Amino acid sequence: MSGARLPGWFCIVICLLITLRADGFNVGITYLRDAVAKGAVCLDGSAPAYHMAPGFGTGINNWLVHFEGGGWCNNVTNCLARKNTRLGSSTKMVAEVAFSGMLSNQAKYSSDFYNWNKIKVMYCDGASFTGDIEAVDPATNLHFRGARIFHAVIEDLLAKGMQNAQNAIISGCSAGGLTSILHCDKFHELLPPSTKVKCIADAGFFINTKDVSGVFHIEDFYNDVVTTHGSAKNMPAACTSAMKPGLCFFPQNMAKLISTPLFIINAAYDSWQVKNILAPGVADPHGTWHYCKLNIEQCSTTQLATMQGFRLEFLKALNGLGSSSSRGLFINSCYAHCQSEMQETWLGADSPVLGSMSIAKAVGDWYFDRSPFQKIDCPYPCDKSCHNRVFEPKDHTDIILI
Ligand SMILES: *[C@@H]1O[C@H](CO)[C@@H](O)[C@H](O)[C@H]1NC(C)=O
Repeated sequence: MSGARLPGWFCIVICLLITLRADGFNVGITYLRDAVAKGAVCLDGSAPAYHMAPGFGTGINNWLVHFEGGGWCNNVTNCLARKNTRLGSSTKMVAEVAFSGMLSNQAKYSSDFYNWNKIKVMYCDGASFTGDIEAVDPATNLHFRGARIFHAVIEDLLAKGMQNAQNAIISGCSAGGLTSILHCDKFHELLPPSTKVKCIADAGFFINTKDVSGVFHIEDFYNDVVTTHGSAKNMPAACTSAMKPGLCFFPQNMAKLISTPLFIINAAYDSWQVKNILAPGVADPHGTWHYCKLNIEQCSTTQLATMQGFRLEFLKALNGLGSSSSRGLFINSCYAHCQSEMQETWLGADSPVLGSMSIAKAVGDWYFDRSPFQKIDCPYPCDKSCHNRVFEPKDHTDIILI
């Protein structure tokens, strides 16, 4: 009978866990079984899935469709490695996920969207929902059908009430942020003409630049993704007719073609991009960048100079968005990746700000046309409001994500 004698530290741990969880709420999974007949399936052929929290009160006709991220698989080898994980099969997905930040259901945590219908679409195709190849090689049983999943999900949500949407947003983080850019106009077209539709991409503005060894590593990688998944036909023809389809995966090359209002939330020193685009393992065989990638405070003067160069490349790439005032920009100088899904970075007493505006307030004001927002931070380390990421040495995020 040890229940009454739990040591104090045990309570501290449990109480802390409860506090950390308190700003999120759990939402159960819905499988799209009907989508299988249309061939809209995950890499392994299983049904796609999402988590949905119904809207309430004044938010009942407002819809926020948020796409999960998780890198991409660029060839059969890597797609096979992903096939039997939650990023390739709904049989491996968890029954509940926590909604927080932009997806919170409490006004104090997400003042403009808390009572909307909120959907988090699980990522299981490996190509930001662009793939569509009919043939399935029996030797691998790999299905490249992301674009069909996208359509099946939207159709399903329209039938569940989104056809009456007054307001609708497509959003996402990381590879999901790229999804919301690549599918922004398509999402708009699938909704009724009377719906106010806007797109939000968090950490989805991946840039085409050289790595520290001077190679366009990410360009080769995206080329492989697009070829493997047959993505070209699902990307804007105005882009694919002008350049290699793999290049159209970069927002800097295709975003100017988007006519729907689009908001970009991105750290100029995006930690995923630094780890995988600027200094991927293949470009840094001696591991010189290892500690710098784990913690920006560990970067040498030379490495910081390289990162400042990366920021300038990033800002140059943003010109690809065009100059429309319908674009929103929240580009802070943090070492971060995905700032909308976590309460501490989306909206909180000490969450990141640009000119005293939190991400939540900037995005809400922009969506509801209360005021436009286009702000780019001064260079690192000027911004003291950042929540800079610090990774564990054994953090294998890289391997899972790429
Ligand atoms: C698949 O892609 C990875 C990562 O880019 C690469 O190392 C590997 O050689 C590729 N495999 C094949 C079979 O092309």
